[in-house]
Amino acid sequence: MKILSVFHPLFQVATFVVGVYNARMGITRKNFTYRRHFRFGMLYYGMAVLGLSGGMMITESLEEAGHEIELGSHLEIAFLMVFLFVLAGVLGLLVHYRPNLRKGLMPVHKYLNLATLLLFIYQAVTGFSGLLRFLLS
Ligand code: HEM
Ligand code: HEM
Repeated sequence: MKILSVFHPLFQVATFVVGVYNARMGITRKNFTYRRHFRFGMLYYGMAVLGLSGGMMITESLEEAGHEIELGSHLEIAFLMVFLFVLAGVLGLLVHYRPNLRKGLMPVHKYLNLATLLLFIYQAVTGFSGLLRFLLS
């Protein structure tokens, strides 16, 4: 049963790598095309949300089996992240389709996305410490 608990953390580590790759592409402009940046952006958001649902399902089935994982504010931060994904993604589309708004919106798009990566690190801290306590219990 305990083995179930490692799938979501490992999947989210892969999601983080995709997010960092896309941020690097935006910042350095290396291999940057809108198509590529859009695809990896959608992959990052999509994987994170898929991982979120997986995390909830696994937590629920562990609880049903009588196990408790202490994750602090992991769930609340997860929902905050989804809100930021929607906001940052919509701004990215606006930057592309409304070039006159580019100057004002681009930094907001950039910093919101970078904020999601910082929150991701926070999720890794609460997630891995909860996982470790659970696995060692
Ligand atoms: C490397 C980063 C992360 C680690 C190590 C981690 C770890 C965990 C662990 C150990 C659990 C308990 C269930 C299980 O073992 O599968 C969990 C649950 C969960 N995770 Fe994560 N997680 C990470 C990132 C994320 C991110 C980025 C999100 C949201 C976008 C997220 C959303 C959730 C949710 C919603 C739950 C269920 C919590 C509940 O129902 O109380 N996690 N996570
Ligand atoms: C589907 C979602 C996304 C869309 C539609 C989108 C769209 C855009 C667009 C249109 C630009 C400006 C390109 C230009 O004309 O110069 C841009 C830049 C950028 N994006 Fe995204 N993006 C998305 C996801 C992401 C994600 C997930 C990240 C980071 C995790 C990110 C980070 C950046 C960065 C750092 C820049 C460069 C900003 C600058 O040069 O100051 N984007 N994005």
